[in-house]
Formats: sequence, structure tokens, C-alpha cells
Amino acid sequence: MTRFSYSPEDMKTRKYIKKKMRAYGLSVREDGLGNIFGKLEGTLPNAPSVLVGSHYDSVPHGGNYDGVAGVIAGLEVAALFREHNIRPAYPLEIVAMIEEEGARFQGGLMGSRGINGLIKEEEFHTIKDKDGISVIEAMEQAGLDPSLPVHRDPKTMKAFLELHIEQGPILEQENIPIGIVEKIVGLTQLEVTIRGVAGHAGTTPMNYRSDALITAANIVTQLPDLAVKEGNGTVITTGQFNVYPNGANVIPDKVVFTIDLRSGEEASIHRGIKEVERLITSYQKGSIETSVTQKLLIKPKALSENIRSIFKETTKELGISSMSMLSGAGHDAMVFSDYTEAGMIFIPSKDGLSHCPEEWSDIEHLAQGVDVLFETVKQLTAKD
Ligand code: HGY
Ligand code: MN
Ligand code: MN
Repeated sequence: MTRFSYSPEDMKTRKYIKKKMRAYGLSVREDGLGNIFGKLEGTLPNAPSVLVGSHYDSVPHGGNYDGVAGVIAGLEVAALFREHNIRPAYPLEIVAMIEEEGARFQGGLMGSRGINGLIKEEEFHTIKDKDGISVIEAMEQAGLDPSLPVHRDPKTMKAFLELHIEQGPILEQENIPIGIVEKIVGLTQLEVTIRGVAGHAGTTPMNYRSDALITAANIVTQLPDLAVKEGNGTVITTGQFNVYPNGANVIPDKVVFTIDLRSGEEASIHRGIKEVERLITSYQKGSIETSVTQKLLIKPKALSENIRSIFKETTKELGISSMSMLSGAGHDAMVFSDYTEAGMIFIPSKDGLSHCPEEWSDIEHLAQGVDVLFETVKQLTAKD
């Protein structure tokens, strides 16, 4: 599965999502980033909505459940409201968000950061993909309307709920179908550029070289020890590593690579960033130049106590076992949690695998997740 924002795969999926929203009696709108909202009006005038959903973009060559499971679960909650002919007091909005992975435009969480006003309008002209296409241009090429409003007033939201696959092994090992997320790790995404001097692979003596790739490789191989030394479950990953000019007989003069650093402790993230920057600048000598750009920094986030206890109560009433968990993955819920009550439940991932084609979750667990969401949403949208 590779479904980047505003790609042909996105357009096909968007059509399907909107068709389902209409089939379940929701009014459909899109915002100026292409996030899709399906709304079931409530009986209370101008009342804030309970949002249920997730992202539907993917990592390159990813799985079939990351993000979309939460969108499908939201649609199923809307279907249950329709089947049971429930008219909520507070409106219900199913939301399908773009660009949570940042696979096209780097950074990540772009759909939810846009909705919550964390990205300035003009940035959508400057945030570009690897081909230099800006968010605005990519939307226009896909026939979407970037002039629509993006930032929504937090007063229009009562809560945000997200079902997501765990993307780890714990629920499967514990044989528990529902994880209730207590806290989501903080993370930073850095983009590192190492510049050296291009040269002929054959005629340049070894002591005449400023090889950007060797420098980058020396840095990257020291990152795991840096994470272990920091402790607090700190993890560091280099997922992208681009060599220029990428010729087999050319000494590379530029390498651009990413560093994804995460921890449940905010202090570890800040210390980790300092250590990484110190390591990188220690290689700045002779004709080697280094630079670091921070693409995203988000603190660890505790999710709503109130929603967690409703999830807990609901799983008990439904006779579904559950456990409280920390999320090692970042999620849109962590952005919403600063603006409204945010809650998240996990369902098990087979062998704990995710961000790969082997990603798989049991439809039974998805159904149990939908039941937990449905009961919780009924409570949150009911008259006080
Ligand atoms: O990287 C993450 O944690 C999420 O999959 N975007
Ligand atoms: Mn993901
Ligand atoms: Mn995800």
C-alpha cells in the first residue's frame, strides 16, 4: 500500500469515503487541505461536534490498516447511528485526514495540525514534496480547493476519538483485544544535510576527499548508542537516506537524511536533539559542511482521563478485556489533545508488524473496537 496525499490512490479512496459517508446519511464537506468531514447533525443548535476518525494516507510500501482502520471504524459508528435511528444531541463528525505520515511533505500530522491552526496559511505555499510541488499546487493538480477554510475553532469540537492499530506486539502477546491509550510519545523529525566535494572515483586520492556519504554514514551509525545512552525508552531511526549525485563512480558531494527521535519523556527528546546536533557539528571540518532542519517537534501527550474512563467502563459493560497503554507511534489524537478532549483505542497488530505489507489486524478485533467507539460516542453525543 502506497497512498500519498493528493495522489491518484488518494483520489480513489476519497471517492469511496465520501460515497460511504453519504450512504450513512452524513453531509460531506472538505477543508482547504483536503481533510474530509461527514457530519450527522445533532438536535442541540450550534453545539460542538464529537469527531471520530483518523488519517488515510500511508507510508511508502506500507500496510492496509494504519490510519484507514480508524476511518472505517468511524464510518461504521455512523452506520450504527443510522441503523439504530439515533439522533444525537451533539453532532457526530467522521473525519478522514490527509498527510499524517508526512511521507510526501515531510514533518507529518499535517491534516490534524492544519485543522487545529498549527500551520500558517502561507506555509502551504512553501511546504513542498521532493519534486518541489507545494501543498497548494498538489491540491490544485488533484482538483481540490485549497481556498476552503482549514483552521476550525476549538469551540466547534467536543471531543476527538481515534481507533488505530497498535503497530506493536503487546496486545497480541497479552491476548487483549482493546488497548486504551494513556499517553503518546513525543517526537522530533530532523532533516540533516551533509555537504562535501564531488569527485572522480578513480583519480581522486583517498587523502584528497571530502566524501559526504562517509561522513553521513559515520554519524548515522552512532545514533543507536546515543538513544540507548539517553534511556527512558528513547528511540532513534534514520528512515530516509538520499545520496547525490548518486553515481557509482562519483564521490558523493551531498547526503540528505532524516532522524526520527522519540521518547515518553520530554527532557529526553530535548537532550537527544542536543546530543544529535553536537555529534553532527563535530564532523563540520575542512570542506565538509553540516546542517540540521527540524521538520516537527511535538511533546509527549497525555490523553483525556474522562474519555479513558468511559472507554474502560464501556469495555467492561461489553465484556471486552482491555489494558491501558503508551503509544510509541505518533497519532493525530496527540494534536487534537491540546484543543479538545482526545481519546484513543488500539486493536492488536499481528506479530506487532506495521508500516509494511505484512501489517494485519483481525476483523473481529476491529468490530469490537467499533462497538467500544459506538457506545462511547453515544454517551458523548447524548444530552448532558
Ligand atoms: O510515525 C508514526 O508514529 C506514525 O505512524 N505517523
Ligand atoms: Mn503510520
Ligand atoms: Mn497511523
